[in-house]
Amino acid sequence: MFGNSLKIYILLCIFKSTLVILSVLCVVLSCASADQTVQMKLLQHWDNNFEGQFSFPLQTNIVGWELKMNFSVSVSNIQQWDGDWYYQSPDGRYYVLLNKDTKGLHAAGTTLTVRMMGVFSGNTAPSATGTLVDLSGDSQTVPPVHVPNSMQHTQYNYAEVLEKSILFYEAQRSGKLPANNRIPWRGDSALHDQGDNGVDLTGGWYDAGDHVKFGLPMAYSVTMLAWGLLEWKQAYEQSGQLQYMLDSIKWPLDYLLKCHTAEHELYVQVGDGGPDHGYWGRPENMTMARPSFKITESKPGSDVAGETAAAMAAGYLVFTSVSKSNDYVDDLCWAGIWLYQATKEAKYLHDAETHYQPGSAWGLSWDDKQAGCFALLYKFTHNNTYKEDIVQTFHDWMPGGTIPYSPGGLAFRLQWGALRYAVNMGLIALMAADLGISPKQYRCWAISQFHYALGSNPQNRSYVVGFGNNPPQRPHHRSSSCPMIPAPCGWDEQTNTGPNPHVLYGALVGGPDQNDVYVDDRKDYVKNEVACDYNAAFQSGIAGLLELAIRNQLPDCQH
Ligand SMILES: *[C@@H]1O[C@H](CO)[C@@H](O)[C@H](O)[C@H]1NC(C)=O
Ligand SMILES: *[C@@H]1O[C@H](CO)[C@@H](O)[C@H](O)[C@H]1NC(C)=O
Ligand SMILES: *[C@@H]1O[C@H](CO)[C@@H](O)[C@H](O)[C@H]1NC(C)=O
Ligand SMILES: *[C@@H]1O[C@H](CO)[C@@H](O)[C@H](O)[C@H]1NC(C)=O
Repeated sequence: MFGNSLKIYILLCIFKSTLVILSVLCVVLSCASADQTVQMKLLQHWDNNFEGQFSFPLQTNIVGWELKMNFSVSVSNIQQWDGDWYYQSPDGRYYVLLNKDTKGLHAAGTTLTVRMMGVFSGNTAPSATGTLVDLSGDSQTVPPVHVPNSMQHTQYNYAEVLEKSILFYEAQRSGKLPANNRIPWRGDSALHDQGDNGVDLTGGWYDAGDHVKFGLPMAYSVTMLAWGLLEWKQAYEQSGQLQYMLDSIKWPLDYLLKCHTAEHELYVQVGDGGPDHGYWGRPENMTMARPSFKITESKPGSDVAGETAAAMAAGYLVFTSVSKSNDYVDDLCWAGIWLYQATKEAKYLHDAETHYQPGSAWGLSWDDKQAGCFALLYKFTHNNTYKEDIVQTFHDWMPGGTIPYSPGGLAFRLQWGALRYAVNMGLIALMAADLGISPKQYRCWAISQFHYALGSNPQNRSYVVGFGNNPPQRPHHRSSSCPMIPAPCGWDEQTNTGPNPHVLYGALVGGPDQNDVYVDDRKDYVKNEVACDYNAAFQSGIAGLLELAIRNQLPDCQH
C-alpha cells in the first residue's frame, strides 16, 4: 500500500518536473502557441442567468487575442469586461470576442481569465467551450537569399541585407496592397488620401515609424535607391532581388506621378505630423484627418520639386518609361544632374554646374545633396574642381579630420539617426572609389561604417532589424508594434516592454550615441526610429559592396 503510494508520488514528481521543463523550454524557445481550447467553468446560475469563466494558462507572452465560444444552448445579453464583440451567430450559440485595447498584454506564466454573465434559454444552464486564438505575431519567414557562388568571402551576408532592406520598404507601403504583398501583417490603408477636388493620392511610402507621407524624403529615397541599382545592377541580379527591387521603387514612383497633378502643381505631403504622432496604432486603422499639401507657382518649394524631378529622372533611367517632370527645376544641382543623365541635354548639365556649391560637404541627407552632386558631376565632366571637393570632404570625414568619431569607430555627424549619416557618406565613398579616387582607402572606410551598422561595433550587435547578431527588437515603428489584425492596437503597444510582435526585417535604426551606447527602447525615436531615408543610401551601399565581392574587388582592409 505504502509502496504503491510512493511509486505514484515519484511518478507524479517526474511528471511535474517534465511539465516544468517543457514549459521552461517553451518559454526559452518561444514555442508558437497553438490555439488553446478549455471548458467554461460555470460559477453560478439562478433563474435564467448564468455566470461563467474561461481560464487559459499562458506559455508565451501575448499582445492580442480572440476568444471563440460555443455554448450548448442559446445565450444572450452577455456582459463581460475584457473584450469587444467581433461576431455573434444568429442562433446565439457562437460568439467571438476580441480583446479590448487595454486588455491585450499578458505575460507567459500567468493565466488569462475571462469572466462573463448572461441569460440562457431552456431549463439547463449552459456548458461551453472557449478557444483562445493568439493574435500576437505573424508567421512571416524570409526565404534564404541566393548568394552568388563565385564571389569573395564576406564577413556579412550582403545579399541577405539587400533582401531584407527591400522587405522593409514593402512594410512601408501605403494604399491598396497588391496580391503579391509579402508582409503578412500589413493590409490596405489610407485609401482616402486625396488632394483638392478629390484627386487620388493613395499609395507611396509611410515616412518612418509614423504614417505621414512626405514627398521630399520619399523622392530622395527613390533617387538614392535607383542610383545604387543603376551603378550596381549585378548585385541585385545575382542575388535574385532584381524583380523585387524594381517593384519596390515603382511603388513610390507611381505615387509621385499622381502627385504631379498639373503643370505647376505638385502635392508634397499627405497627413499632418501633429495628429499623426498623437496616434499609436496601425495605418489600417487610422481615423484622423489626413490633409494634403501642395506647392504651386504662388507657393513654391524648389527643393521638393527638384528632388521629385530627380526621382523621376532616376526612375526613367531604370524603367525607361516613367515620365519626367521638369517644370520648376531650374535652380538645383541635384535635379539638374539627374535630368542630364535621363535626357543627355547639355542645358541640364550646365544647370547643375551653375548651381554647384563648392567646398567640403557637411554630409549627405534628404535635405543636403551636395556630396551626391559632386560625385556625379565628376563622373560626367572629369573636372578636377569636383574631385578636389570630394577629396577635401573625405579628408574631413575620415579619422583625423573634423568629424568626431565614437570610440568604436563610427563617424558621428549628428545624434539623430547617427548611423544614417555615416552610411550615407559610405555610399558616396564607394561611388568616388569607382571613379578612381583612392579606391582602396575609400572602400575600406566605407566598409568600416557599413560593418559598424551590421555588427562590428562595441555592442557587438546589428543595427538592422531581423539581421545578424542581437538586432533591435523594439524599433519605434507603429505598425510592427501592433498585434495581428483585427486585434486593437494603441499606446499599450508602444509602452509594451516586449519585442515588437512583427519583425520589421531590414530596417536600419537610428543607432547609438557618440559613446557607442544604445538601448533597444521603442519610445526612443532618436536612436530607435527607422525611416525610408535611413535605408536608402544604406541599401545602395550594401549593393555596392556585394557587387565588389562579385567582381573580386573587395580590398583587404587589414593590410
Ligand atoms: C463552434 O461553432 C462554430 C460556428 O458554428 C463552428 O465553426 C466551430 O467548429 C465550433 N467549435 C467547437 C469547438 O465546437
Ligand atoms: C482595423 O483594420 C482591420 C483591417 O482593415 C480591420 O479588420 C479591423 O476591424 C479594424 N479595427 C478597427 C478597430 O477598426
Ligand atoms: C570646372 O568646374 C568649375 C566649377 O563649376 C568651373 O568653374 C570650371 O570652369 C570648370 N573647368 C573646366 C575646365 O571646365
Ligand atoms: C564583443 O565581442 C568581442 C569579441 O568576441 C569581445 O571581446 C567583447 O567583449 C564583446 N563585447 C561585448 C560588449 O559583448
